Amino acid sequence: MNTPRPALPEDAGRKTRVLTVTNGSAGSGKTTFAGAVGYATAKNSKKKVCVIGMDRQRDVSRLLGYDDPDSDENLPTLYDVVDDVFSLAEAVVPARHSKTKEWIPNLWVVLESNKLDQLEFKLAGTTARELWLFRLLPQLRGRFDVIIIDCPGDVKIATIGAIIAGDEIVGCTKSQEKEARGLTELEDKIKEIHEAYGHLGMRNGLDWVVIGEGVTSDSQGKVYRDIEAQVRKAYGTMALQPTVRDDVKVPEAYSAGQPVTLYNPKCDAAVAYTKIGRQMKLYR
Ligand SMILES: Nc1ncnc2c1ncn2[C@@H]1O[C@H](COP(=O)(O)OP(=O)(O)OP(=O)(O)O)[C@@H](O)[C@H]1O
Ligand SMILES: [Mg+2]
Repeated sequence: MNTPRPALPEDAGRKTRVLTVTNGSAGSGKTTFAGAVGYATAKNSKKKVCVIGMDRQRDVSRLLGYDDPDSDENLPTLYDVVDDVFSLAEAVVPARHSKTKEWIPNLWVVLESNKLDQLEFKLAGTTARELWLFRLLPQLRGRFDVIIIDCPGDVKIATIGAIIAGDEIVGCTKSQEKEARGLTELEDKIKEIHEAYGHLGMRNGLDWVVIGEGVTSDSQGKVYRDIEAQVRKAYGTMALQPTVRDDVKVPEAYSAGQPVTLYNPKCDAAVAYTKIGRQMKLYR
């Protein structure tokens, strides 16, 4: 690695957009979105982007160049922040290319630990536990233009905290029954949380919906198209275009430990995510 390690951006009073990426249904494309759109934003704009990983599976940490944050005890993780070992600002590290280990310009990450499986338990005993992230995020606001929170596949205290703390809620779904139902349940949950915490300025529903194609097989193709049409009808312009089609480059990029927009910017999924980020006005 020949370039110096990028420093944490100073608080320059930037107007930060915090995107909470969620769906109570696992495997709905949240991490793929967070990695792909996070990288595309850092690359296509001069904006400073920070991805916060919240999942003990550590998928987004891997995509941003850190295969196993637990293997290096000098690397801070979100767990250390909740454990009061590091501040949130101290836990931000620059993203890097998984192969070359070069720093990726304008992109940072708060890493995950497998100890995050204890996150719910740890938060449960704290005062005003649902506000855990709301209270931490001011440390990063003003430093970054965009913060993307990659939630785990459930809506418990950790995710509820990200929903309260976020400025925009991105619901990721697949055109399949389970994930689409997860989106409806998420909407109900957001409204319920809003009743308690709306006074803090949180959102009262989803802002964006990202649709990934259900796993293709000819006999089931029509079911997927029907669900896709239903989701688009229900969410109108909130449902971003296009639907991200089933693309083998996505699992390939996962294996390579890279966001798909870095791994193969020309593949269908990367082109789709790039368009989606543009519609969200993250870049031109
Ligand atoms: N467009 C696509 N084409 C093919 N495979 C995809 C596509 N999008 C996502 N996948 C695959 O689906 C799986 C789940 O995707 P992803 O990890 O993004 O979902 P998630 O919502 O973050 O899951 P979890 O709830 O486990 O965190 C991954 O193995 C990924 O490679
Ligand atoms: Mg994930």
